[in-house]
Amino acid sequence: CGIVGVTGKDSAVSILLNGLEKLEYRGYDSAGIYVNDQSGHDYLVKEKGRIDDLRKEVGANVHGSTGIGHTRWATHGEPSVANAHPQVSADGRFYLVHNGVIENFLDLKQDYLSDVTFKSQTDTEVIVQLVDRFVTTEHLSTLDAFRKTLGLLGHSSYGFLLMDKENPDTLYVAKNKSPLLIGVGDGFNVVCSDSLAMLDQTKDFLELHDGEIVVVKPDEIKITNQQGQPVERKPFHVDIDAAQADKGTYPFYMLKEIDEQPNVMRKLSQVYLNDAGNPVINEDLLATLKQADRLYIVAAGTSYHAGLVGAKLFESLANVPTEVHVSSEFAYNQPLLSAHPFFIFLTQSGETADSREVLLNVNEQKFPSLTITNVPNSTLSREATYTLLLHAGPEIAVASTKAYTAQIALEAILAKAIGMVDGQAAAKDFDVKQQLALVANGMQALVDEKDTFEALAKDALLHTPNAFYIGRGLDYDVSLETALKLKEISYVQAEGFASGELKHGTIALIEKDTPVIGIITQKNTAGLTRSNLQEVAARGAKTITIVTDDLAKPEDTIVLPAVDERMTALLSVVPGQLLAYYTSLNKGLDVDKPRNLAKSVTVE
Ligand code: G6P
Repeated sequence: CGIVGVTGKDSAVSILLNGLEKLEYRGYDSAGIYVNDQSGHDYLVKEKGRIDDLRKEVGANVHGSTGIGHTRWATHGEPSVANAHPQVSADGRFYLVHNGVIENFLDLKQDYLSDVTFKSQTDTEVIVQLVDRFVTTEHLSTLDAFRKTLGLLGHSSYGFLLMDKENPDTLYVAKNKSPLLIGVGDGFNVVCSDSLAMLDQTKDFLELHDGEIVVVKPDEIKITNQQGQPVERKPFHVDIDAAQADKGTYPFYMLKEIDEQPNVMRKLSQVYLNDAGNPVINEDLLATLKQADRLYIVAAGTSYHAGLVGAKLFESLANVPTEVHVSSEFAYNQPLLSAHPFFIFLTQSGETADSREVLLNVNEQKFPSLTITNVPNSTLSREATYTLLLHAGPEIAVASTKAYTAQIALEAILAKAIGMVDGQAAAKDFDVKQQLALVANGMQALVDEKDTFEALAKDALLHTPNAFYIGRGLDYDVSLETALKLKEISYVQAEGFASGELKHGTIALIEKDTPVIGIITQKNTAGLTRSNLQEVAARGAKTITIVTDDLAKPEDTIVLPAVDERMTALLSVVPGQLLAYYTSLNKGLDVDKPRNLAKSVTVE
């Protein structure tokens, strides 16, 4: 979900709607705003669907100078106007938007509000009714009632923005586990769950810590900690140009982001490698990494897939055993750890709740950690021991592309850096700068062939109910990612498979014309994957091959420029990204905002 708030600006309605549009990638099943004009008029507008639908519903007559807004990714209750936020107290005095999940909302409902008729199925309504209850029955101030309510929420996750009709210029703000920032303005202030939403209002933001409560007025921001003591904090400056978050002439962000990949490779090379091609990485970080006897990469979704590739780089270039884990699994089933573990969190957004839960555990156990993220000052970046930034520019499309390749490139640089500390030959001999230059050129050649991929997508994927990507080793890792791309945005049931394993069961699914796409970039397994493709072809599959130049045969479908075998994932993923894009596009789907998904999932 995404949250925005503003106080002290007459254009509150357009600030909220524009902000919500920027946050729409965080959830888009319903949305709403509440605004107050400070002279007795207020408006609550909610709509099922997209921000565009909300904008139409708002029309020209809604105005005010203080307001809150929300775009929802449903957790409790189906998408509907009743379940959209803001949620309202029964007497219409309090309005609340919420990111996160209140774990004990049913208990709270039973214990305090059994006499109330609820209008929605949301956990959020329980909270707004509770605030109201404490104000009316215990005569608490709004702030005290809010504080008392927060004290009842246990380990729940929330970012809250509360408004009280009787203090109409005030935003009451609180957060736990969900991201929330205060944007500092001149004579006004804003609140948002992602700075992207408010970059056209301010570039100075205050981070909030878990458990803090903030009272925001046009000329005042008062932060207090859980105990109610005042907290002093300086704002940080966000260095993103609002235009970077614009899709320009592209029909969808995803295509823009695929196209940006060659430049992201070059940028990483500039930032992290010196003229001699050697990594420039924080020495303290390298020293700590060097003490580790095992690396644990923890991540979700596409970032997990980038971790699989990274593990092979760390093992081959830095000679350090590396495990890769899915965050949501690791969080509640921590395996037996080595004596000196080091944790690497891969997360584009830096906000994924599943990954953060692991980081909290890791911090409790006092293990060192590194977050590799695209978002400076994000939660996981603040809370890990070290951070390395991806410098990929804002990634807006829900299906991640340039963050995946940026993560792999940075892992390669880091792996070389670790190996170089004690002069390992594999690291010294690996010219990562030259490789990234080759990769950038190779990516450019691929993205310049869009027509080829569109034609292939139309021919092989547009009308199929299912498809397979297969490969071995690194090629298997990429198969998982390219299959995920396809299912995320085109709804083709796609599976990434270890090509040798297919024959042990799943081959039963192969029918006439089932697309099976083989990725072949590794010398030692090329022949084997080709045999596996023969096996499925013999059972009617339509086979497609993605092969590096040095291993290619005349009959291959897509030939990738040759790069170091350890770096091929950076190229072999691009055809899969484009095939998914064009399948989705030609199905007439919303490529950037696939159904049911959100870009940054801040609930577990
Ligand atoms: C969500 C997104 C995925 C993403 C995953 C991890 O599920 O839809 O595209 O890969 O979160 O996100 P992160 O920001 O931690 O990389």
